[in-house]
Amino acid sequence: MKTTSIQKYVFGKPIDTKAVIKDVDISENLPNYIGISDDKQTIAISLGESDKVYGLGEAVRGINKRGWIYETYCNDDPVHTETKRSLYGAHPFVMIAGNHTFGLFVDFPDRVTFDVGYTDINKLQITVKEANYSLYVIESDSPRSIVKHFRQLIGKSYIAPFWAFGFQQSRWSYANADAVRSVIDNYRSNGFPIDAVYLDIDYMEDFKDFTINEERFPNFKKFVEEAKEKNIHLVPIIDAGVKIEKGYKIYEEGKALSYFCKDEDGNDFIAAVWPGKVCFPDFLNNAAANWFGEKYKYLIDMGIDGFWNDMNEPAIFYSEKRLDKAIDTIAELKCRNIGIYDYFRLKDTVYGISNNPDDYKSIYHSIDGTQVCHDRVHNLFGTCMTKSAANAFKRIAPDKNILMFSRASYIGMHRYSGIWMGDNQSWWSHIKLNLQMLPSLNMCGFLYSGADIGGFGDNCTEDLLLRWLALGIFTPLMRNHSALGTRDQEFYRFSSHKEAFRSLLQLRYSLIPYIYSEFIKAAENNELLFTPLSFEYRGDKYAESIEDQLLVGENIMIAPVYEPNAVGRYVYIPEEMTAVHFKAYDDYTLHQYSKGHYYIEIPLNEVVVFIRKNKVLPLVSPADCTANLDMSTLHFIGDVAKGQTYTLYTEGKVENGETVVQKHVLSI
Ligand code: GLC
Repeated sequence: MKTTSIQKYVFGKPIDTKAVIKDVDISENLPNYIGISDDKQTIAISLGESDKVYGLGEAVRGINKRGWIYETYCNDDPVHTETKRSLYGAHPFVMIAGNHTFGLFVDFPDRVTFDVGYTDINKLQITVKEANYSLYVIESDSPRSIVKHFRQLIGKSYIAPFWAFGFQQSRWSYANADAVRSVIDNYRSNGFPIDAVYLDIDYMEDFKDFTINEERFPNFKKFVEEAKEKNIHLVPIIDAGVKIEKGYKIYEEGKALSYFCKDEDGNDFIAAVWPGKVCFPDFLNNAAANWFGEKYKYLIDMGIDGFWNDMNEPAIFYSEKRLDKAIDTIAELKCRNIGIYDYFRLKDTVYGISNNPDDYKSIYHSIDGTQVCHDRVHNLFGTCMTKSAANAFKRIAPDKNILMFSRASYIGMHRYSGIWMGDNQSWWSHIKLNLQMLPSLNMCGFLYSGADIGGFGDNCTEDLLLRWLALGIFTPLMRNHSALGTRDQEFYRFSSHKEAFRSLLQLRYSLIPYIYSEFIKAAENNELLFTPLSFEYRGDKYAESIEDQLLVGENIMIAPVYEPNAVGRYVYIPEEMTAVHFKAYDDYTLHQYSKGHYYIEIPLNEVVVFIRKNKVLPLVSPADCTANLDMSTLHFIGDVAKGQTYTLYTEGKVENGETVVQKHVLSI
């Protein structure tokens, strides 16, 4: 067995990203299988034909990242097609698995390009924008062990409150309190379990952070209480931009204290997002971060115990400068006979006003008293916003574990919150992308995660929603969310399969003790919650290439259907397993399978869970919400042999803002 080693190499003067929590001595000479250019900006590694490349967290394409070029750059891009290079999170960790298995973490807060067999099919080329970074090389004998050591290096993952493992309903937007009441009533009256409803940007007054639109949500504190009485947590959104408005306290304070990001002339940098013109709090400046974090108190005092931080790449609709330029270009082209090149110029000018790289170059942070161009630390912005809130929660409400997840992220943020996968679409391919991203995110420390079930953009259909739900019931964050202007997609909107939606939601609640326990084990032991088959069944050529099945926790495998009009799917069974065909939590049939390939029928109203050999699946009777789950109804199915045990975790008390979980070793 190979011993594990972690080597750290430092090039130039890296900016401290705080991603790594352990001290590692600095080594001098890179191992001979890693080539590096003289300017230290390009790293080259030869890939064997059958080597796999894993990691990169939030990214398009498969679990095995070979065959594309990726860029770590927090990017507000809602069209996640397979040719995109970056999404909202930046996670520069990769692992090469083959004859020689090792992991690489390029700790650098701006663009790192991972050319994984794009330019040269058998080469991994990593290009770092500046030669100021730390490189960690982790060697061990298996992908699992590399993940474990990497995760030890970056620290323990965030543990969400137990209620946040219940189902959560969102929409951009529930426009007023009555709309939210109606969602809750519809869930309850249909017998659909639910724990949370989200408040998107319209709960605010003119999209101003930490304000409430009193007309739409009168007596907000009472409204939060009313929801709590129904066991519903309300989760408001917080955006990174602070509206510029005379008399708006947060803006006035931030300006007076000089806590906003600056432009090259030292003035507050002005961008526009939902409310029109905004300033961005300088989350990389500790004093400004503390100041903004304290603002969450306003909502916590009203009973709020969950938040989602958004637009924190940061997303920029336009900057003043860019808009002026664009308008000049449009004016110049007015009344012209616009041909091909002018047409492209016009189109690029208009599209180019958003999230323009030149704007990111004009933003400045004050880090420990030094002015640093945003362009050099771009990927830390959302992380620092979220960290500012997490640190404040410990001061404001040390007796509460507050739910939080963010859109933008860098490695290290996983210690403070979860992430969701951003603005996906109601596309069948995005069910598969959701599945494939889960293990990659786990590798980078993000355990509390999930996608917008049913898809955010575009119109959802009943069958897509059912199939997506059949995957969603296994993800820690289980939230149905959709965009303004799209078809309503709350589960009760679809009448033909009402019974199936109810059964699947109830099944989720039956599975919560298992999902929560396996989540805690993954967090405590720095393991994956979602494991690719290739990690577990090494040397099995079929398992090594499976991209659409996952192990969830230690005991089960899932193989969701992600194609329209399918009546089932091919499943590879890598070892003897018991398939449980669930119509409902208490209505299922068991089928034994030996190792091999099978076509398994999975009707729209069913979910199949594969229980591994000598393993069990704990189930509890469902309830309308997590608070009403009755653990005394816990029972086991699967390979129930005498003398076995199952380690169950439950939520204990909260100390210093974190849950101290309780461990129960149950005899079966
Ligand atoms: C962004 C978020 C989305 C939210 C919308 C409005 O697009 O990603 O989830 O609904 O903004 O706030």
